Formats: sequence, structure tokens, C-alpha cells
Amino acid sequence: MGDIRNQLDSQKQVNNKPSSDQKYKSSNSLTRLQSATDTRPNKSKTFAFGKNKRPERQRSASTESIPKQSHDSDEPPVPLFGTFSKHAAEGTGMKARRLSTSLPDEFNVDYCELDTEFKRASLLPGKRGKRLGVGATAEVRIMQKKGYSEDLVAVKEYRLRDRTENEDEYLKKIKSEFSIAKALNHPNIVTTVRLCTHGKPARWNHVMEFCNHGELYALVERGLFKTHYSQGDRLCFFKQICRAVDYLHSHGIAHRDIKLENILMDKNGGLKLSDFGVSEVFCGEHPGLRASGGQCGKNMGEVRLCHPGLCGSLPYVSPEVLRKDVEYDPRLLDVWSTAIVFVTMTFGGSPWQSATEVDQYYVRFEAGWEAWLKEHPDGIIRNVLDSSPLVGPLFRRIEPPTMRKTILQMLHPDPSKRITMKEVVSSGFFLGLDCCTPESYENPNWGMNAAERGASRMAQLATRQIVKKHHHIPPKEVGKFSKGITHRFDMGDGT
Ligand SMILES: Nc1ncnc2c1ncn2[C@@H]1O[C@H](COP(=O)(O)OP(=O)(O)OP(=O)(O)O)[C@@H](O)[C@H]1O
Ligand SMILES: [Mg+2]
Repeated sequence: MGDIRNQLDSQKQVNNKPSSDQKYKSSNSLTRLQSATDTRPNKSKTFAFGKNKRPERQRSASTESIPKQSHDSDEPPVPLFGTFSKHAAEGTGMKARRLSTSLPDEFNVDYCELDTEFKRASLLPGKRGKRLGVGATAEVRIMQKKGYSEDLVAVKEYRLRDRTENEDEYLKKIKSEFSIAKALNHPNIVTTVRLCTHGKPARWNHVMEFCNHGELYALVERGLFKTHYSQGDRLCFFKQICRAVDYLHSHGIAHRDIKLENILMDKNGGLKLSDFGVSEVFCGEHPGLRASGGQCGKNMGEVRLCHPGLCGSLPYVSPEVLRKDVEYDPRLLDVWSTAIVFVTMTFGGSPWQSATEVDQYYVRFEAGWEAWLKEHPDGIIRNVLDSSPLVGPLFRRIEPPTMRKTILQMLHPDPSKRITMKEVVSSGFFLGLDCCTPESYENPNWGMNAAERGASRMAQLATRQIVKKHHHIPPKEVGKFSKGITHRFDMGDGT
């Protein structure tokens, strides 16, 4: 019980973020991007969840409304703002949700009635069905596994189907997300538990492990990367995210929506990539198909490129995807977004609002690359201290220099020259980073730090354990926390 309250307490901090309003901003920006003259605010009906329509939100942080920084400012050009994902593969609108032209017709997905296996967290007065977060497609609530009072789960309840939406497409989307997520088995990826329905008309629910420290977004928003987390923490986070993405790519899955809001922290301070709502199976069998046996990475063959069209969340989308004119490799989109996550987390804001020629900060970035490429046509950054693209003051501040080099390689504007995630995770620099989570579930204790790599086989075996170098668990929020305490004391069991 005490454990459950602690988990809820941490989550409370996450829920207090004011950014759900701001989340709507980026989708406005996206609309704006699609048509420079279209300045309509988002219609609330776009975000309908059954009968409950979301309230009208403020205008977005459009390109014009972002405070202009001097070109030499050390601050990130674009303040932190939450994003809703762009789900349409072909840019037809927020609700089109056309995931993939290669979605199979027959999914082999097992599901049950929600109430048979899960119950509202009723042991926790005032916390029944507590809302953990809201995304473009769903609300996520906390529940308990029946019979296991300590086991809290996060339940993602999808919005009801829109009348204009095709039933088949709607179900395929939900089942695709579930079967991809369920097939994944990695320490830095949220564990998926069950697909359930409840009510009439049936609502679909995706049940998963509860990450009680919430979104990485909220930790950045609290300013913890300025006051609390060290460079070691940041690099450890980076390593965890890259390992998750590398695991996905080597199993034929591209996430396509990597952003601070989709990276969660579990009770041990480990990061977990979540939300496979726009993921693409770019290689091998779809894990929802019977032939796959529920696994990903089966019958891997040729890479299938994605059709042109926006996908993801604006500040994190790579330039070739934003151009919407060519097929793209979704792995290279993930590499780009991961680098943007690192920059945004480090500086507390985005380097630009969109990697397009209407964004002055991206224009400067690209011009820096172009000038450098004239002198270095092969595009290889050999020694970052001697010579690297001059792309803006923010990038010069990335430390250590090898990390700066890695980030620049991940943000090469030309996707054919961009580093792959496999190359990132195989680099000596990356392997030498201390990391608090295991490399995989199969090989949980290996590869923790540089000292091990240089050591003899015997010494390696002797040190095969996870050394927690960092303390990632966020401090409790003063003020907000004390309210949480009050509530806990109200529960009256003497804690
Ligand atoms: N397992 C979890 N544990 C704790 N909180 C969670 C969990 N899963 C989701 N959330 C919260 O709910 C929010 C919305 O979930 P999710 O990203 O899956 O929905 P979505 O509708 O697909 O979002 P998006 O707008 O990114 O498309 C997350 O950003 C997070 O705050
Ligand atoms: Mg999300």
C-alpha cells in the first residue's frame, strides 16, 4: 500500500504540469506548416473523446510568436512546448490515422473484458481512475491488476471511433499498436500487458506497465536538467534511449514519434520508450500476424521505405519527412528525433520549431552545414575540435565534444549521410558511457562501463553486475508535494 502511494505521489508531480494546454500548440503549428496562410485554431471537435469534447485551447506557439533570440544567445531558440503527434501518414489531418499502407488485414490479437482482469485503483481514496496523461488519441489512467493489490498498471483508453472513420481502419490501428508494443522486450521499452475492451459502445484499452515518474517532458519542464541532473545523468539517459531505438530497428520496427512526452521514467529511475501509435514495421513480418508468432524481427528482409507524408511531432521531425516529397527511411527519422530529444532535454527548449526553410533557426543550422560541406564534401566529422559545422551557439555548448560530434552526425540534414542508430551504439564513445540500466533482458549484466571493456575476461566476469552510477529519481516538488502528503495522511493508516 505504502508503495502504491509513493508511486502515485511521484505521478502527482507529473500531472501538475501546465503543459497539456500547450500540447495543442504544436498541432496548430503543424496545420500552419501545411498551409502558410491557414491560421485557424484547432477545432475542439478534432479532439473528441466520445461525448467529452476537449475544451478550446489557446493559440499555438506559432513561428512568429516565438521570442526571437540573438544569434549568439546561449538559450534554446524555441521554449519547451508539449506536442501532440501527427498521425496521418499522408498528411490528411489529425484523425486520419492512416498508419501504413502495409497494415495486414487479419490481426491475430487476443483481448479480454477490462473488468475481468483489472480494477480501478479503489484502494486509494480519491484516486479512482486517476488520469496519468492525455495524448492525441487516448487518455491514460491508473488501474490495478485484480488479485495483486500492489501492481498498478497504466491503461490507455482510446477515444471512440469518429463517425467519419472506417471501423476496420480504426481497429487495425489499435491492434497494430498493441501487437507491436506487446512483441517488444527491452529494459528501456514500456512493457505491454493486455488489450481489453469495456462498455457499450466498446472502448478499447491498452494495458501496460505503470511508469510512476511520468514523462521526461515534465522533468525538463521542472528545470531539473539545470538544477538536478548532471552531465552523467544526461548521457546515461541518452544511452538508454539509443539502446531502445537500436533494439527496435534491429527488430524491424521504427517508432516515428520519439519525443520527450513519449519517454517515461519508471520507479527505479530508468527510462522507457512508449507510445507505438505511429510505429512502422519497416522490415520482416508484422508481429500482429499469425505467421510472426507474436514476435517482431521475424523473416527480416528488405527495408520498406515509408510513403511521403508528415508523421510525428513537429519539432522532432526530420527535414526529409517534413518536405513530404520523397519516400523516407523511418530509422533515420528516429535517429534525428533522438538527437532532438537530447538537445531539448539538455537546454530546456527546442533548437527550432520545425526543420524547414520557414524557421530561421533551422535555416541557420542548415547554412552552417552547407558551408562546412563545401570544405568537407565527404561529410565526415573527423575531429570535432578541429573542424565541424558551425550551426549555432546551442550546439557549441554540447559537452563533451564527442557527444557534440555524435549529435551533429545524428542531425546531418542529408539522411543518406546521417549516422545510423547501430553506428551510434557501436561507437567507442557510446560503449564507454556509464549506464544504469541493463543492455537487454537476455544479457542483463553486461556492458555497463568503460572499465569493464578494458578489463580481462576474468575481471569482466567478476564485475558483471549493474553499477548504478547515477540517481535519476527526481526530487519531490515542494508545494505540490506537500499537497500530496496531506492527501496521503488523509488516508488515515498512520503513515
Ligand atoms: N505507462 C505509462 N505510465 C505512466 N504514464 C503514462 C503511461 N503511458 C502513457 N502515459 C501518459 O499518458 C500520455 C499519453 O499517452 P500516449 O503517448 O500513449 O498517448 P497518445 O494519444 O498516443 O499520445 P500522442 O499525443 O503522443 O500521440 C503520455 O504522454 C504520458 O503522460
Ligand atoms: Mg504520446
